Amino acid sequence: MILSKRFVIYSFLCSLYLHFVICSSNTHHNDSFLITCGEANPLKMEDGRVFESDLGNTHVTISPISHTFVSNSEMGLPKILSSARVFTTSSIYTFSTKKIGRHWLRLHFYPVKNTRFDLNSAVFSVEANGITLIHEFSFFRGNQSDPVFKEYVIEVTGSNSGKLVLGLLPWDNSIAFVNGIEILSVPDQLLSSKVIPIPLGVAHELPVRVGFETVYRVNMGGSSLSPKNDSLWRKWGLDKSFLINPAAVRNVSVNPSAIRFHDGVVSNDIAPNLVYATAEEMADANVNEQRFNISWRFEVEQGFGYFIRLHFCDIVGSRLHDLVFNVYINNQSAIESLDVSHRAKGLFTAYFVDFFTNVSMGSDNILVQVGPNHLTGYLPTALLNGLEIMKMSNPSDSLDGRLGMNLDSTDIKKTKSKRMMFVIFSCLGGLFVIVLLLLASFVFYLCLCHKKKPKEDESLGWSALPTYVGSSGSKFSSNTFASMTVLHSLSQMISFSEVREATRNFDRNLLLGSGGFGKVYKGVLENGLVVAIKRGNPRSQQGLVEFKTEIEMLSKLRHKHLVSLIGYCEELNEMILVYEYMAGGPLRRHLYGSNLPSLTWKQRIEILIGAAKGLHYLHTGVSETIIHRDVKTTNILLDENLDAKVADFGLSKFGPSLNQTHVSTAVKGSFGYLDPEYFRRQQLTEKSDVYSFGVVMLEVLCARPAINPSLPREQVNIAEWAMNWQKKGELEKIMDPVLVGSVNLESLRIYGETAEKCLNENGNQRPSMGDVLWNLEYALQFQGACSGDGGDADSMTGISDIPDRIPDVESVDMETISDLESNGTTRD
Ligand SMILES: *[C@@H]1O[C@H](CO)[C@@H](O)[C@H](O)[C@H]1NC(C)=O
Ligand SMILES: *[C@@H]1O[C@H](CO)[C@@H](O)[C@H](O)[C@H]1NC(C)=O
Ligand SMILES: *[C@@H]1O[C@H](CO)[C@@H](O)[C@H](O)[C@H]1NC(C)=O
Ligand SMILES: *[C@@H]1O[C@H](CO)[C@@H](O)[C@H](O)[C@H]1NC(C)=O
Ligand SMILES: *[C@@H]1O[C@H](CO)[C@@H](O)[C@H](O)[C@H]1NC(C)=O
Ligand SMILES: *[C@@H]1O[C@H](CO)[C@@H](O)[C@H](O)[C@H]1NC(C)=O
Ligand SMILES: *[C@@H]1O[C@H](CO)[C@@H](O)[C@H](O)[C@H]1NC(C)=O
Repeated sequence: MILSKRFVIYSFLCSLYLHFVICSSNTHHNDSFLITCGEANPLKMEDGRVFESDLGNTHVTISPISHTFVSNSEMGLPKILSSARVFTTSSIYTFSTKKIGRHWLRLHFYPVKNTRFDLNSAVFSVEANGITLIHEFSFFRGNQSDPVFKEYVIEVTGSNSGKLVLGLLPWDNSIAFVNGIEILSVPDQLLSSKVIPIPLGVAHELPVRVGFETVYRVNMGGSSLSPKNDSLWRKWGLDKSFLINPAAVRNVSVNPSAIRFHDGVVSNDIAPNLVYATAEEMADANVNEQRFNISWRFEVEQGFGYFIRLHFCDIVGSRLHDLVFNVYINNQSAIESLDVSHRAKGLFTAYFVDFFTNVSMGSDNILVQVGPNHLTGYLPTALLNGLEIMKMSNPSDSLDGRLGMNLDSTDIKKTKSKRMMFVIFSCLGGLFVIVLLLLASFVFYLCLCHKKKPKEDESLGWSALPTYVGSSGSKFSSNTFASMTVLHSLSQMISFSEVREATRNFDRNLLLGSGGFGKVYKGVLENGLVVAIKRGNPRSQQGLVEFKTEIEMLSKLRHKHLVSLIGYCEELNEMILVYEYMAGGPLRRHLYGSNLPSLTWKQRIEILIGAAKGLHYLHTGVSETIIHRDVKTTNILLDENLDAKVADFGLSKFGPSLNQTHVSTAVKGSFGYLDPEYFRRQQLTEKSDVYSFGVVMLEVLCARPAINPSLPREQVNIAEWAMNWQKKGELEKIMDPVLVGSVNLESLRIYGETAEKCLNENGNQRPSMGDVLWNLEYALQFQGACSGDGGDADSMTGISDIPDRIPDVESVDMETISDLESNGTTRD
């Protein structure tokens, strides 16, 4: 198994290398990829271009190959939108380009109607050569029903080995899709001129390694131009809707064949003659003493730099130097006394000029104005022929502002706290306020304790872990954790360079997921082992504690049903953990919110048995009891055979010693899974894990999230809701619809009773994990005894009405409450 995977990866890398070698040898060719996604045959477009299939093209590869396509011939749509390729996991298209330099990347998206996937609710991100193009986009959430067309300029450099890599990354459990891809070399002279900064400053070259997104491309005073009218297949739109005062302008035009391009400086590639042949000029230009500007306002996303290109051509003057006017951008002078025919070296001659401006926070538009010069003796008019506005990627390599907000969000969190309180009240009732108050008071208490007895804390080490009391385990003290030297023998220390190699320098296309702690990448170690690499956010104090806890715990533990830690790296302030790779991903993804085949009842019980064995081992199998504290469906991972392993020990703690009944500690865990007794009394026992496991059992049965704030009040919390049905003895009424008819009722009865016992208010009365395990095996016997498991693995019915964003609430701390809040607000 491993061998064949390794082979696939090696042959993949070899083929890339070959492409590089072949392609870098002829750098003088232009690239042109026209790709229709999900269509087997070449497609001739309305404009005459032929789009090739995305499969079977030697210069295009898709990886991994687990994807599928859908098509539908809806009437009245462009052909390119009739099919799409759908990805259920993060996937990449790799285009081996012949030319180094900037390329246009044009993407077509349309949620093709089909019976297999609901593309409207797909949530996904798109990246190209390390630049985020689109972050968590969804047709449904954007209230978008029209096709989406996007145009970017992406640089292919020698360091990307002459490749353009397009990543399609489904959000959490969602899917991603794309209908068509166009890639075209940008002619070298097209973006090589200097740009003038606004406010005015020294003109400079465009920065390299910056991605551009075309936000506006407008043909002033003319008709819209289809790609067929443009030598580089660009689209040009109308300007009327951007005019602040349409009554103040009138359109002028000349025969396009009259337009001249000045030798080599401006060519047809800059803009077609159709653009220069039309313009908007001031109405009543012949009335003297006109005192107004023509103003166009373009809405843009704040917090980005914008490249603005203005196209001019003197088509109204009768002699040179007749037409002189002023140009303003954002109320600031951009060109004073622009003499168009002088600059263009002739009448009817094309001319363009480039600007750059930052659109700061708090402003959301770019204002472009042309107006008459105050000097007399010139035509009292002003004109503009064409305009292009391109957004430039920001320092975090993104063209989508929503990304930045998810990243460095500490400041945003503070300002959000008021709204957060509101949302918490409205979706989840006063319950969490109690948690908050407890947390706050407890943190305060901890701080007090911490100050009083720092020495005691310091003395605790790996060898001296007799008891955990009060403050010693608080999230602010890292001294209690084992010294690293003890651990070296247990887990391999891995060098940062190897980690970087394994993840192709943290290639976003290898990203498996990201969470509060950081990002998780798939990687291949030098020895060929496929691993999951978790890279912590460097600045997080809490992250450091969890990092150390995880190493400490996992280095001590080896069990078939616990995810093994292969190594770690703490060079250069990095916090990196390397785990065995779990091909099946989190259990939750198999339950809802994705298009994975439904699990049968038997499979579900077997998975729970695996997880229960892992927890049972934690509770009883090692010298000190270990309490996981964060049992949930995203922390139960499945391998390729659907064998379950418990993961994520960042919150784990050692349990009470013999003469203690509990450990006092700050309340941590995840909403919906938290043992109510634990957060009332802040006393942790292994029975808190049993409670969380009960919630997991219900989630597995009902295939819905533990907390779903979008449901009616009484259904929000699965434990409350399902226990009402269990008490009525009608649990089968709320089980995952795909299971109906395939579940042995005796098996279900035992299962329901076990879950109910796990959820007992009183920890002492909950069963041990050993008892739970025994009961699950008993339930499995009944299911095994009845003929087969009969589940229809292809059925999707259980998924259709799941909201596109499932609240994924992590640990109970401020950070994750704001996660909840942001999920809550996107839902309404
Ligand atoms: C590449 O494009 C440029 C600009 O459009 C053109 O001048 C050149 O002839 C093209 N080269 C090839 C090999 O097609
Ligand atoms: C979505 O669009 C429809 C029609 O275009 C409109 O009626 C509705 O109010 C919009 N909803 C939101 C949330 O913008
Ligand atoms: C735009 O912002 C960047 C970064 O903040 C700065 O370096 C640059 O000088 C600004 N340019 C202008 C024209 O204001
Ligand atoms: C130019 O203006 C005239 C009259 O205002 C209008 O009928 C015509 O459609 C306009 N042409 C274009 C290309 O917008
Ligand atoms: C643009 O191209 C279309 C054909 O695709 C043609 O019918 C149309 O006349 C052209 N527009 C102009 C302004 O020439
Ligand atoms: C330009 O000035 C107008 C009027 O003073 C103002 O309303 C507008 O917000 C300004 N725009 C920008 C981009 O500064
Ligand atoms: C045109 O706009 C600029 C900048 O907004 C302003 O300074 C100027 O006074 C305006 N000119 C006229 C004639 O209104």
